[in-house]
Amino acid sequence: MRIAIANAKGGVAKTTSSIYIASVIVSRGGRAVVYDADPQSSASLWASAAEQTAGPLTFDVLPANQATLRQLAAGSDPDEWAIIDAPPQGPTLDMAIKAADFVIVPASDSPMDLQQAWSTLDMARMSTPAALLLVKAERSTKAFHDTMDALNAMDTPRFDTIVPKAQSYKRSLGTNPHQLGEYRDLVTELQQIAGKQETMQGNYQPLARPVPFDDVLRQQNKTSKTADEPLVMLSLRIPVSLKTRLKTTAAAHDLPMQQLLRAAIERELDRLGGDDEP
Ligand SMILES: Nc1ncnc2c1ncn2[C@@H]1O[C@H](COP(=O)(O)OP(=O)(O)O)[C@@H](O)[C@H]1O
Ligand SMILES: [Mg+2]
Repeated sequence: MRIAIANAKGGVAKTTSSIYIASVIVSRGGRAVVYDADPQSSASLWASAAEQTAGPLTFDVLPANQATLRQLAAGSDPDEWAIIDAPPQGPTLDMAIKAADFVIVPASDSPMDLQQAWSTLDMARMSTPAALLLVKAERSTKAFHDTMDALNAMDTPRFDTIVPKAQSYKRSLGTNPHQLGEYRDLVTELQQIAGKQETMQGNYQPLARPVPFDDVLRQQNKTSKTADEPLVMLSLRIPVSLKTRLKTTAAAHDLPMQQLLRAAIERELDRLGGDDEP
């Protein structure tokens, strides 16, 4: 099983999750490797810090570039779990997603951070099944409940496991973690996904459904000059290839599709000298 951990936003526990997931797999008698594909090399630094103390990690952390990931995509040891700590953007991120059987998108419980998580999810799901993992969660806060409401309203595929904000995770940086906490439940969920993928023999369908961006757009409208204008639905028939281009370009620029579409329409209307005010 190859897993990429990806989110365009930094500081959402990608590296922490990579290290913990691999630690749980090894603690259960499995084999794991962490591929450090982030130019910040946090996973590799974590491994060397652990080595310098009494507790080296129980698995290898290997640096990975596009070529490494291409090789991994072409074939891997089915008994080894490959965990890819992905970079925030660029062709290496694309390659990490292509190389993976499943993508985990960690996100904290802040409704504003969901935008980036959604666009990473949407991009990942063009090629690979993916789900959101809520991390650094503070269940007693309004932000947590708003985030859960938004995830439910958008039907966002997510893990049942929620990783709370805890000092034990924060302090474990650069050590061989022993208290594996909620990541044990997460790996149980991953093992179920892996089992399902095997029995379906490559016919595994993503759980995911397309994510509507209306709410995201509504959020963004709050800061635009059309802040108080109501939104209308526009249905539009376009060729499949144009839709694909729209989706790919939106993902590459980390923009909701609707925002890109709206900008494109506005730009063309401006070019043709259309009136700003109807
Ligand atoms: N569950 C958690 N609770 C509290 N702090 C956390 C948790 N997970 C990660 N952190 C801390 O958040 C920061 C960012 O985590 P990191 O794994 O480096 O994120 P990323 O790889 O996405 O940039 C680090 O200081 C880390 O120790
Ligand atoms: Mg990192």
